[in-house]
Amino acid sequence: MLLQNVSPSTSVRSVTQLSLPPTDKPSVGVPSLIDEAWRLEPFVPPFAFSAFFSPEDTLLCVCAAEAATDLLTEPEPSKAGDYSFAELTSGSGLVGFYLLQRAHRARLLGLDIDPEATAVSERNARVLGLAERARFTGADLWSESTRALLEKDRPDLLVCNPPYVPEPPGTRMHIEAGAGPHGTAHLMQAVGLARLVQPEALALSWCSLSAPAAIVGAAEESGYELHNLFVTAIADGEYSGSVHSYLRDLDDCYINEQRDTLDIIASDGSGRFAYLLFAGAFRREVEPRRNGADVEAICRKFAREGVRSLASIDAPFPVHCSMLTRWDELELRVMLHGAIGRPTREPV
Ligand SMILES: C[S@@+](CC[C@H](N)C(=O)[O-])C[C@H]1O[C@@H](n2cnc3c(N)ncnc32)[C@H](O)[C@@H]1O
Repeated sequence: MLLQNVSPSTSVRSVTQLSLPPTDKPSVGVPSLIDEAWRLEPFVPPFAFSAFFSPEDTLLCVCAAEAATDLLTEPEPSKAGDYSFAELTSGSGLVGFYLLQRAHRARLLGLDIDPEATAVSERNARVLGLAERARFTGADLWSESTRALLEKDRPDLLVCNPPYVPEPPGTRMHIEAGAGPHGTAHLMQAVGLARLVQPEALALSWCSLSAPAAIVGAAEESGYELHNLFVTAIADGEYSGSVHSYLRDLDDCYINEQRDTLDIIASDGSGRFAYLLFAGAFRREVEPRRNGADVEAICRKFAREGVRSLASIDAPFPVHCSMLTRWDELELRVMLHGAIGRPTREPV
């Protein structure tokens, strides 16, 4: 969602024309999200991405989904990893495939509105040898058929890495990005579906652009407590940047426009603001603890003090903080789309 989807040959060209990143990176005390990128190693060509793939929030969602599986009730040892899960807004299917590769008895139902995503994820399932345990269907989060499919399947775990960019009223963004005037429409719908089908655990990704605590609050209202939070600071991208002035007027928007933070996150000078990506692992509880205020406190501190604030977060649940600089974004793309030094054609 932050950089345009580039073909391998384009990414090679852009990387070779850029000067190398500074070796004397400022010490911030916040690790890079790149440290978690080993999880994406199986997803290189011929694995393919749908047009709407965004590596940073997908990777964060992978981390939360993994943590969410640890919240599932342990079955007897002979049935370890025997669970069913549904991935809403599944795109390429990457998050689901990651879980399938870790649990050899798990079964996936992937749902996405985009027919191309369904075709791509089905092909990916065959490439990875996971087709027997993965089903993909074209489905809109708001459709009756999605509701019926989930009610029939009753998954143990629900995963969702949805669009999250707030859309100024009267405008319509691309399907992969825009998520209503508050950027929370898809997330709220996913939480509503969880309330309906009551999976044991939930993995969601969202951001600080609008109402980050409201997502946690909605999950709590539906009976889910936040157990594990993954946070990464990132600079504005193609879609988030286009709504900069609208974001400034939103009540619950947490961005940081300070030079110090931008020099760290976007040292090439390309950043207008930084914000936080979140992904959380939730478990169904009889009386969920209320953690929304802690998430809002993290956002307020970030908006006030910048990326360095992530070095000292205090919360009553585990919080895994990181940042993704522009260079790290490129590294992630190059890792997924093909190695540098093997251009498919000569740069022009
Ligand atoms: C951030 S991308 C998810 C990327 C995904 N993790 C991947 O590996 O490709 C958001 C996805 O939401 C899907 N989407 C958008 N609106 C939707 C809707 N109303 N119902 C279902 N899926 C939707 C898009 O087609 C897109 O694939």
